[in-house]
Amino acid sequence: MAAWSAGQYVKFEDERSRPSVELVARVPVADPRRVVDIGCGPGNSTGILRARWPEAELFGLDSSPDMLAAARKRLPGVTFIEADVSAWEPMAGVDVFFSNATLQWVNGHQAVMQRLMRALPKGGVLAVQVPDNQSEPTHALMRDVAAGGPWRDKFATPIARQVMDAPSAYYDLLRPFGPVDIWHTIYYHPLADAAAIVEWLKGSGLRPFLDRLDDAGRKAFLAEYQARIAAAYPPQVDGRVLLRFPRLFMVAVRG
Ligand SMILES: C[S@@+](CC[C@H](N)C(=O)[O-])C[C@H]1O[C@@H](n2cnc3c(N)ncnc32)[C@H](O)[C@@H]1O
Repeated sequence: MAAWSAGQYVKFEDERSRPSVELVARVPVADPRRVVDIGCGPGNSTGILRARWPEAELFGLDSSPDMLAAARKRLPGVTFIEADVSAWEPMAGVDVFFSNATLQWVNGHQAVMQRLMRALPKGGVLAVQVPDNQSEPTHALMRDVAAGGPWRDKFATPIARQVMDAPSAYYDLLRPFGPVDIWHTIYYHPLADAAAIVEWLKGSGLRPFLDRLDDAGRKAFLAEYQARIAAAYPPQVDGRVLLRFPRLFMVAVRG
């Protein structure tokens, strides 16, 4: 898969960062020694961790060199690590593992979550937010356009993104380690128009689809996708469209 692009991702940074603010507010650790932001991206979530715990030793981990370059520029005082979290062995002394909008891309993320829980000391926390939008029109229409166009052969192998489990399954996965707090939030983001929804998705969910096409195919795919998005997200009273975005949050404490 092509690398993540920091430039595209930060176009909707305020909206993308809001779940991090709401997740970190629920982490019951006052004074952690080390905090790791897993899938730190361009450092937007890492900055939120820095604001909550100015004294902690802070690390950001990501598999994308482009994202890490943007993050290093933004937060020179943080140690950034290039690694795939599936194969990463956590360092000692971490009191908080934080991961916003990343584990949905990680094959076998349940085993990763268990490994992180085992690495925590008593009272340490794993805090995770993942989008729960695979059934939303944004994502259903990506799959429909992929399966219905002249490019359909290129999508014979399904796109690798993980389907998330039900909240009850994560509860059962994490509860043996200690207390678990799980909740679900649906955001409604007012955006300028259908083109803005497409622009948002180009920085995340659409990437693996566009990666399989050449320039002409990408252009045609996006035109078809945008027409379908415009029909699914009609203008509101102010002319803007509302992007409905469900997200799942989990805070697990090592007991
Ligand atoms: C949607 S961005 C989230 C960025 C940021 N945490 C935020 O709150 O907006 C997902 C990030 O996860 C990274 N990522 C995806 N798979 C990964 C993996 N297996 N290991 C480490 N990072 C990964 C991507 O490079 C990308 O920067």
